[in-house]
Amino acid sequence: MGNTAKLTFKHSAKGFEKTVDIKVGESVLDAALNFDIPLQHACGGFCACTTCHIKVTSGAEAVSAQEDDEADRILQVANLAPNSRLGCQTKAAVAGSSITVEIQNWDGL
Ligand code: FES
Repeated sequence: MGNTAKLTFKHSAKGFEKTVDIKVGESVLDAALNFDIPLQHACGGFCACTTCHIKVTSGAEAVSAQEDDEADRILQVANLAPNSRLGCQTKAAVAGSSITVEIQNWDGL
């Protein structure tokens, strides 16, 4: 367990749910790529698009704080919510925690 957290990806409308281990310091997008979770990432994880939009539905206290670049970019998502984040900018921050995110731009498996 050491320096990892549990990260659950969901897409409720599609009935998708998968829990994986994420290392502290790793981004939600990194974990998605490692485990073949269909999280879009058109800009390659450089905070230059909004396709990796997720909503953090639990464990918000266990992820990295939002920085200015992300705060500016996230304003461009269509269905912005207080728990909206960019998956490439949201990192696990607390070992042993549990985080759940809802995928917003689903392209299936
Ligand atoms: S992959 Fe483009 S902003 Fe996250």
